[in-house]
Amino acid sequence: MKSLVVYYSHFGNTAYVASRLQEALAAKGSADIFALEYADKKKSLARQFLYRTFPSLVNLAPIPADLKEYDVLCLGIPVILGSPAPAFQKYLNICTNLYNKKIICCYVYGIERDARNYAKQIEKMLTPKINQPIINIFIHWGNVHIEGFITQAINEAIAKLG
Ligand SMILES: Cc1cc2nc3c(=O)[nH]c(=O)nc-3n(C[C@H](O)[C@H](O)[C@H](O)COP(=O)(O)O)c2cc1C
Repeated sequence: MKSLVVYYSHFGNTAYVASRLQEALAAKGSADIFALEYADKKKSLARQFLYRTFPSLVNLAPIPADLKEYDVLCLGIPVILGSPAPAFQKYLNICTNLYNKKIICCYVYGIERDARNYAKQIEKMLTPKINQPIINIFIHWGNVHIEGFITQAINEAIAKLG
């Protein structure tokens, strides 16, 4: 089983969870991991506003978006503000060959209601491209470094891959 882990992280928590997911997925075959990054790293406030309004204008740094050679796409998504980062929206927009792929979405959040709302938004964006149920993981940022919690959450998600 070949997996691709793609994450975005401001403060490092999602990066940590993504690296743990990659380790666990690699044990099932192989797993590549990439951080989503803006091509223009220093963005003016005006540009940030523009990207929030029109995520399609985001220029992403190079990242694999064709899932042809992968079996699993695992997304690490930090919950900050009302909607997923424009970089994430752009990435989901350019992703291809998601049909028949297993998808894990891991939300790192502060407020559970916000995370569930993100999950609904991400599901809406992915629905036209997928035909498998999304496996969601919700991790409060305060639990990220609690070993027992994180291991259990990841193992439960990976067990659902079948
Ligand atoms: C400026 C800021 C805004 C945040 N806004 C939200 C929010 O709207 N909803 C929520 O559930 N968590 C919120 N959080 C908590 C983040 O989800 C949490 O810090 C998480 O670890 C961010 O992921 P990261 O560490 O990978 O960047 C916020 C955190 C910060 C620092």
